[in-house]
Amino acid sequence: MDDVKRLFREWRVDLEERFEALNARIEARFERRDPNEIFRALPAPSDALSVPMKAVMASRHSERSFSNEPLPDPVLADILWAADGVRDIEDAQKRTKGRVGREYDGGRTTPTSFDWRETEIYVLKANGIWRWVPERRGLLFCALTDIRHLAAYMQPAMTLPPVQLVYVSNLAKTRTRVSEIAEQLMMKFDGEVWNDEAIEELRIRNTHLNVGVKLEAVSLAAEALGLASVARTLFPTKKLEEALHLGPDEHVTAVQSVGYKAKSFLDHIR
Ligand SMILES: Cc1cc2nc3c(=O)[nH]c(=O)nc-3n(C[C@H](O)[C@H](O)[C@H](O)COP(=O)(O)O)c2cc1C
Repeated sequence: MDDVKRLFREWRVDLEERFEALNARIEARFERRDPNEIFRALPAPSDALSVPMKAVMASRHSERSFSNEPLPDPVLADILWAADGVRDIEDAQKRTKGRVGREYDGGRTTPTSFDWRETEIYVLKANGIWRWVPERRGLLFCALTDIRHLAAYMQPAMTLPPVQLVYVSNLAKTRTRVSEIAEQLMMKFDGEVWNDEAIEELRIRNTHLNVGVKLEAVSLAAEALGLASVARTLFPTKKLEEALHLGPDEHVTAVQSVGYKAKSFLDHIR
C-alpha cells in the first residue's frame, strides 16, 4: 500500500512539473494579448434564439442555397455563441460562490471531452480570416484574405456563403493535467486495453465528437434564426490548413457554411 502511495506521489510531482511547463507554452502561444491586435467585440446572445425547441428540432435541415449577403454582427454572435459560447458567468458564479478551488468560468454552451475546449473556430468572411475567442466574446483578426473558396471542394455553390466556420482541433489543448493523469492511471491499471496507440485513438475520436456536437448546435441555431447552414467535411484540407498557418498539432476537422437563404438567382452573383 505504501508503495502505491509513493508511486502516486512521484507521478503527481512529475506530472505537475511537466504540465506547468506545457501550460505556460500553450498560454504563451494562444492567449497572448498583442497590444496591436485587432479585436472585434460581438454582442451578447439575443432573444432571437429563444424559440420553441421542438419546432426547431423538427425543421432543422441542411440547406445549400445561400445568398452572398454578409451576416450582421448580432446574427453571427448568436451562431458563434451557440457553437462555443460562455454559458452564463453570473449565474455560475452565484451557484459556485464560496466553493474552494478556481473560480468557475461559466462553462461552455457545447460540451467537450475532459472539458478540453480544444476546438478553435476560424471565421472566414469576405473581409478576412478571424478567430472566435469565446471568453472574450469576439473575433480576433488573423489575415486580410478572403479564403472562403478553400472551404469548398467539388461544390461550386459552397464558395458563396458569407460565413464559413472552420473547426480546428488543437491537439495541444487536449494534453491537460486531468486527462494525462487519467491516461497514466488507465495504462497502469488496465494496461492490456490501454496503450499509447489506444489512448491516441481515443484522443482523436473525442476531438471529432467535440466538433460534431458544435455542428449540431450551429445547425439548430441557424434554423432558429431562419438561416441556411450546412456542415461539410469535403474541402481541400491541406490547402485550407496551409492558408490558416496551422501548426503540426492543429487539424481542420470540419467546415460549416452559414448565411441567409437565397431568395432569387441574383443572390448567386458574386
Ligand atoms: C459530418 C458531416 C459531414 C458532411 N459533409 C458534407 C459535405 O461535405 N457536403 C455537403 O454538401 N453536405 C455535407 N453534410 C450534410 C449532409 O449531407 C446532410 O446532413 C444529410 O444529407 C442529411 O440532411 P439534413 O442535414 O438536411 O438532415 C455533412 C454532414 C455531416 C454531419
